[in-house]
Amino acid sequence: MKIKNRHIMLKKTLFICLMMVSSVMVAQHAKPIYLDDTKDMEERIEDALKRMTLAEKIDVIHAQSKFSSAGIKRLGFPDFWTDDGPHGVRPDVLWDEWEQAGQTNDSCVAFPALTCLAASWNPAMSEAYGYALGEEALYRGKSMILGPGVNIYRTPLGGRNFEYMGEDPWLTSRMVVPYVQGLQGVGVASCVKHYCLNNDEEYRHQVNVIVSDRALREIYLPGFEAAVREGKAWGVMGAYNLYKGEHNCHNSITLNKILKQEWGFDGVVVSDWGGAHDLDQAVKNGLDMEFGTWTDGLTMGATNAYDNYYLSKPYQKAILEGTYTEKELDEKVRRVLRTFFRTTMNRRKPYGFLCSESHYEVARNVAAEGIVLLQNEKVRELNNATVLPIDPVGKRILVVGENAVKMMTVGGGSSSLKAQHEISPLQGLRDRLKDSNCRIEYARGYVGDVTGNYNGVTTGQDLKDERKPEVLIAEAVEKARTADYVIIFGGLNKSDYQDCEGHDRKGMELPYEQDKLIAALAAVNKHTVYVNISGNAVSMPWRKQVPAIVQGWFLGSEAGKALAAVLVGDVNPSGKLPFTWYESLRQVGAHSFGEEAFPGIWRNGKKEIIDEEYREGIYVGYRWTDKQKLKPAFAFGHGLSYTTFKVSNLRAENTLTIDGKLTFNVDVTNTGNRPGMDVVQLYISDVKCSVDRPVKELKAFQKVSLNPGETKTVTLTTDKRALSFWDEESGDWKAEPGDFMVQAGDASDNLPCKVKVTLIER
Ligand code: BGC
Repeated sequence: MKIKNRHIMLKKTLFICLMMVSSVMVAQHAKPIYLDDTKDMEERIEDALKRMTLAEKIDVIHAQSKFSSAGIKRLGFPDFWTDDGPHGVRPDVLWDEWEQAGQTNDSCVAFPALTCLAASWNPAMSEAYGYALGEEALYRGKSMILGPGVNIYRTPLGGRNFEYMGEDPWLTSRMVVPYVQGLQGVGVASCVKHYCLNNDEEYRHQVNVIVSDRALREIYLPGFEAAVREGKAWGVMGAYNLYKGEHNCHNSITLNKILKQEWGFDGVVVSDWGGAHDLDQAVKNGLDMEFGTWTDGLTMGATNAYDNYYLSKPYQKAILEGTYTEKELDEKVRRVLRTFFRTTMNRRKPYGFLCSESHYEVARNVAAEGIVLLQNEKVRELNNATVLPIDPVGKRILVVGENAVKMMTVGGGSSSLKAQHEISPLQGLRDRLKDSNCRIEYARGYVGDVTGNYNGVTTGQDLKDERKPEVLIAEAVEKARTADYVIIFGGLNKSDYQDCEGHDRKGMELPYEQDKLIAALAAVNKHTVYVNISGNAVSMPWRKQVPAIVQGWFLGSEAGKALAAVLVGDVNPSGKLPFTWYESLRQVGAHSFGEEAFPGIWRNGKKEIIDEEYREGIYVGYRWTDKQKLKPAFAFGHGLSYTTFKVSNLRAENTLTIDGKLTFNVDVTNTGNRPGMDVVQLYISDVKCSVDRPVKELKAFQKVSLNPGETKTVTLTTDKRALSFWDEESGDWKAEPGDFMVQAGDASDNLPCKVKVTLIER
């Protein structure tokens, strides 16, 4: 070959090679569909799925540490981090230990507990809460918050009631939706828990709940249903207990049939930690991601613990041996990928930040709006004025009680936090009144639980006091005699058998002989205020002797500030009870049928499964007290203000057809002399029905802000579902044509307006 020709040949070969290399480079650089966020998410999921190996698929459906599962590193999916929930972002624990990781950047804002949020009856508060929490989670690198909790308050003994939103399905539904939307609005998944029927804590891994379909649908599921259908929750956590013999982390009815098929849930079902118990059920009954406490999803420790999870090596082996195809696995992985695309792979989510003033503001506002003024009597010695708000100028104020000083953000189980700060009630009052020319003294009054440690987070407080109860009471009484006001901060705390995960309370009574202390103080001082710190109702045998009673919840970082603001009247209280405050357990439906209904009966005498039958059925909370004509200490929806309101002139705005919306207008007037907020509540009763129905049920509400003398018209809208019951025969909601009585007012026991409406079949 001539040299020139060889040259030309060489050039051609070089050119072809270059072309080949560059086309390979182009191919390598072209974005795969799964990474292209202009593409439809479902297309991206399928594209990612087909690139994954069996091992990679198995890796993403189970935990690799206490709070994370693996991403898909080869394909660029980061690890997936979850965290508790629901009141703030839990501090980091070690990879496979519950002890603290010892980070210095994981202190958070502690938001008020969810009972307080529910007591605000303000969905806008809930959205702000979710949003602020989401921003904290983002900063901490968490893609899923394990919350909110929407289990129904069935008994005041429930150890985790403080983490939930009360007894009413409608209130719970309205409050959970904005929380989920706020949180997910910043690209953090919510994991709504504990689905479902986890209404008490004792034996929570072994309880098999027996409940009618009606009670399940009308009382226990609506909060979850709203979170999924309206809130579009991206995650749901299966509960520990059983229903119809299957654990709720892999339950064919609650997960496959109801959650996924009926409600169209397209997110991930996450097991509660250690809640999976069976490979076959875990594969087939709706569980998507298995998380756990120790090795086998229960309590045993082992090395390589996570490999032993049901949805880890055992599942992989069973697939390789042909017991299962990859059909169920792919369905789980699709859901996990969808969650990744919504969270870790969402490039548009904000960065988030921690402990900002805006987050404290949310915490403070929720706390202030959730505090409930239960009682506020007029007293002769104060010229017939009410005790609250206190008038501090020139006064001597005696503050009493351990809960005035005890940090409450540490403890209680998985919702325990490491708060950047927590202002105690005593501190809050001192700060607020420092320029008010008054003297604040403190007496301990009682000693409760002086430990302050949860998984290595310590409060740093030394609350030890060896004095005997009589001595403490005598000291407080002595000081109370001459004080202008006595403000007692008592109640429960976050220790075992109180407001705490893992156990239920043993009774409704206040612990640590507080009843004696409160009665003794009220006997010597007529201006006594009792502030109850708890997530549950407590019995108050001295109720008639204490003129002012405030429900102060667990209020988080800004507790003291919010309480002081309400006590001195900077904030006019507007919280309303999200549950019935019973006089005693004798008024509680769940406690009216013996052990069968609570805590249950061990099956066959063996301590394996305990059957708990919800024999009160749909009659939970005020539905029970109404039916039995019982007068609780404070009714559901009750909460006073420093002003007064009048609810009047309820009118139905349209004729009712079976598929129409029902609109009601009602006027509310501030008849007192301070600006304030009231919650207008609408309850509906079916006058005649083929099945037994509650005396009334909450179906709409709205919080309104009014200046003195001002009247506003509130429009409340409901629909056919509000008139319906769950028809066990057809397995569907049913509204029977006929008359319905609609009542409005501002507490379930204060409903001055009535209107009758008739539902006609079209
Ligand atoms: C609790 C869950 C919690 C999980 C992780 C479980 O024991 O029931 O509510 O999210 O632990 O801490």
